Amino acid sequence: MRMSVIGCGYLGAVHAAAMASLGHDVIGIDVDRERVETLSAGVAPFYEPQLTELLRAGLEAGRLRFSTSMTDSADAAVHFLAVGTPQAPNADAADLRYVDAAVDALLPHLRPGSVLAGKSTVPVGTAARVAERVSGTGATVVWNPEFLREGWAVHDTITPDRIVVGAADDPAGRRAVDLLRDVYRASTEAGTPFLVTDLATAELVKGAANAFLATKISFINAMAEIAEASGADVTLLADALGHDTRIGRRYLGSGIGFGGGCLPKDIRAFAARAEELGRGSAVGFLREVDAINLRRRDRAVQLVVDALDGQVVGRRIAVLGAAFKPFSDDIRDSPALDVAVRLRGLGADVVVTDPAALDNAATAHPQLNYRVERDEALRDADAVVVVTEWDEYRREMSPQHAAELVTGRIIVDGRNCLDAAAWRDAGWTYYGMGRR
Ligand code: UDX
Repeated sequence: MRMSVIGCGYLGAVHAAAMASLGHDVIGIDVDRERVETLSAGVAPFYEPQLTELLRAGLEAGRLRFSTSMTDSADAAVHFLAVGTPQAPNADAADLRYVDAAVDALLPHLRPGSVLAGKSTVPVGTAARVAERVSGTGATVVWNPEFLREGWAVHDTITPDRIVVGAADDPAGRRAVDLLRDVYRASTEAGTPFLVTDLATAELVKGAANAFLATKISFINAMAEIAEASGADVTLLADALGHDTRIGRRYLGSGIGFGGGCLPKDIRAFAARAEELGRGSAVGFLREVDAINLRRRDRAVQLVVDALDGQVVGRRIAVLGAAFKPFSDDIRDSPALDVAVRLRGLGADVVVTDPAALDNAATAHPQLNYRVERDEALRDADAVVVVTEWDEYRREMSPQHAAELVTGRIIVDGRNCLDAAAWRDAGWTYYGMGRR
């Protein structure tokens, strides 16, 4: 099927490459010329496992192209809208300017019978507004939210847990849903559930899913606070809770909390939209979820300060990790970098390392020191903080080897990802989050 993907960021670039890999004929459109050139050369503009291979395969097969011109999307049967919806400046609400600009630019190219499938995460009610805007072109609007995780984006796009399509319950809506069934036939034949809803429910599924995940993470981090006050161990607690199949262990990873380009801004936008709808109190707990999350960053900084007996100025601190999570070079709202920046703000000599995110981190925070090699970051450190649970730190860093490099054997495990006993046995003072 001929399709366009409008917006080639984390979501759109992966979606375009994945759709080409399913055999579709895809044109990716972006206003950023440099990004279009990079993608056209078969280079992923950000770190995402498997994306480069998928891009190259699509380009070589002639099924994937990129362009800055919306005109090139004119013969597409489906237009996927995948532009960003960042947090608005000085507000919690989503900034919809890119959605509106993309729809306006697409309007002259929409043909009767074509489908505009929204993938961007939007406040409930946006799809109906977009449908209103395109009425008169003969095109149909559906909403088809994306649930991909960075680092697993290719996997999540090709084999998602579920496909949700929201559409109006009328002949045009049903035709559009059938077209989307054709788009995703390879996935549904492999067993992926295909759920059809109205427009508002499809938009809400995405917001609610992210709100639930954020709440689950903050729940265990709230338990970490209680564990700290009572001498319990939150990781053992999470293991025990997780065996209850109604609860499950996933997203009970305690530590410095969630960040990234989605969860933080999505829960704020969700709460802001609920306020607009006069139902702010229904999701008032999301403010608390946000507050618990941010408190964990304070806690990690405090652990380092306490471990150094309050003597932070001029002390060398190795910060292992900058990305908001492993398998990503994304530093948007990264708890890891936030901890590094705060320690620097207290006067510490902070040295940051990360396997993928150093360039992005150095551009955003030139005041920090950076080392490509982990061992160089560890050298002469008075304390070490692990803030992103890359395998390079979690599995591959030997406490004995690290002990030979540092000045002070103090390790703060901001992700509860290290084997505490192994580090203590090697002579380190180990501090976890919500652990004795
Ligand atoms: C998230 C959603 O998972 C995805 O469905 C949605 O489409 C976009 O937002 P992503 O931002 O890629 O995906 O990251 P995710 O893997 O969910 O992790 C988010 C943050 O939560 C990270 O900072 C991670 O370190 C943190 N996290 C995750 C925890 O602190 N504990 C956990 O147990 C899990």
